[in-house]
Amino acid sequence: FCPHGRPSPCSRVNPSILKKNDKVVDTVDVEDISEKAVFCRCWRSKNWPYCDGSHVSHNKETGDNAGPLIVKK
Ligand code: FES
Repeated sequence: FCPHGRPSPCSRVNPSILKKNDKVVDTVDVEDISEKAVFCRCWRSKNWPYCDGSHVSHNKETGDNAGPLIVKK
């Protein structure tokens, strides 16, 4: 059981993003990145694949230490 009392969904790294897909794959053209891009690694962003700060509440709730991947040009 996860901290929320639910059995399996919490043990999945991805609880809700594009669950209809067999796998979630994202491609970003480096030419589309202006100065930097901040990508989500906690799988909780509402602006996937970009970080929207949701990792802060995720870490607070779970004791995790997830944070984004920052790509700079
Ligand atoms: Fe997922 Fe920031 S929202 S790493």
